[in-house]
Amino acid sequence: MRPSVILKPYAERKLRNFYPWAFHDDIAEVRGDPEPGAVVLVRDASGTLVGQAFYNPGASIPLRMLTRSEERIDAGWFRRRLMEAALRRQGIHGTNAMRLVHGEADGLPGLIVDRYGEVLVVQIRNLGMERWRESLVEALRALFAPRGIYERSDVEAREDEGLEPRVGPLWGEVPDPLEVVEDGLVFETSVVRGQKTGFYLDQRDNRRRLRGWIRPGDQVLDVYGYIGAFALHAAAAGAMAVVIDKDPWALGQVERNAARNGLAERVTVRLGDALEMMEALLAEERRFDWVVLDPPAMVKRRMEWERGVRRRFVDMARLALRLLKEGGGLFFSSCAYPIRLEDLIEAARLAASDVGCRLLVRDVTYQPPDHPWVLQIPETLYLKTLIVEKQSAAD
Ligand SMILES: C[S@@+](CC[C@H](N)C(=O)[O-])C[C@H]1O[C@@H](n2cnc3c(N)ncnc32)[C@H](O)[C@@H]1O
Repeated sequence: MRPSVILKPYAERKLRNFYPWAFHDDIAEVRGDPEPGAVVLVRDASGTLVGQAFYNPGASIPLRMLTRSEERIDAGWFRRRLMEAALRRQGIHGTNAMRLVHGEADGLPGLIVDRYGEVLVVQIRNLGMERWRESLVEALRALFAPRGIYERSDVEAREDEGLEPRVGPLWGEVPDPLEVVEDGLVFETSVVRGQKTGFYLDQRDNRRRLRGWIRPGDQVLDVYGYIGAFALHAAAAGAMAVVIDKDPWALGQVERNAARNGLAERVTVRLGDALEMMEALLAEERRFDWVVLDPPAMVKRRMEWERGVRRRFVDMARLALRLLKEGGGLFFSSCAYPIRLEDLIEAARLAASDVGCRLLVRDVTYQPPDHPWVLQIPETLYLKTLIVEKQSAAD
């Protein structure tokens, strides 16, 4: 008999409504002694099948749904899901880099696959998926014929699953550094040393928006700029850009990439804390036509937002608005699921009332289509951006 997990009465409702996770409180009984990481059958209290899931009793989320049917979960099943994910990304162009698999949203819980030209970078976040590493590598090779596959499973989430970080080549040849091409710009980055899997693919469409709005000679401040992707797009359209980041390696890459694209004269860097560097620019009486605020997640839980991060967001928005010329534009992003669009709006409104300016909303954006999200899984919507124009008090 296949191992199975029986849910408490009514606990199956959220899973039947396409929410993918069950917690310890949802489980009534475990039958057949499944190994941690195994695929189990999930049944409701009456014994009716709800689906199949990864099972890890040691994790705070013991069940992660794979399918609602009784279909066989084998190497072929993973390969089909990978193929479906790839087909979903057809039509993304102007770049050699994209997210190929976005975890739960692509029906592959805890699996991230990013493509950088001929190289694939894999991230495995849970024990269930960990057991399929070899099949995944085989399927990725068969489907995409990459030159190399690299693993960047160095995320905190693995600790809760009882897993150590795992970083290193999985197959073939992985050049380091490697090149990301975005709308004709070449970014040298590293899947070994870089943040995330090497590049912030999820801001691609916002970089394009900024580039489209730049007028030659515009002054652009790229705060939390990483390897300067926003700044270089702006510089390519004729702007002069300043990039702030606290990661010296990233700022080194900004300079290399600026030179590589013939934009060295147009891009400068400032190493240090974002808020301190913005204060310093204010003191120097520098003013900008565009400011991009793309901070790291900063919160995992809502509580942390209430307890201080909200204030930090208001502070950074206030500084950004002070640094903006009248008529200038602000890109204000958060990549943390617990921070909602309404929170960004509130922070911007509070900051604007301190600065005394009207804010015209030019756009609101979410993560791009290679990072899809599921309506019934709120956690899959993580990146939001509010784009506002600073107008004078007289407007
Ligand atoms: C979301 S990433 C920015 C991605 C970038 N905008 C892009 O499009 O590639 C956040 C960046 O903030 C930097 N960072 C984190 N905390 C910081 C701080 N207190 N001051 C300055 N930079 C910081 C990180 O090093 C990281 O490069």
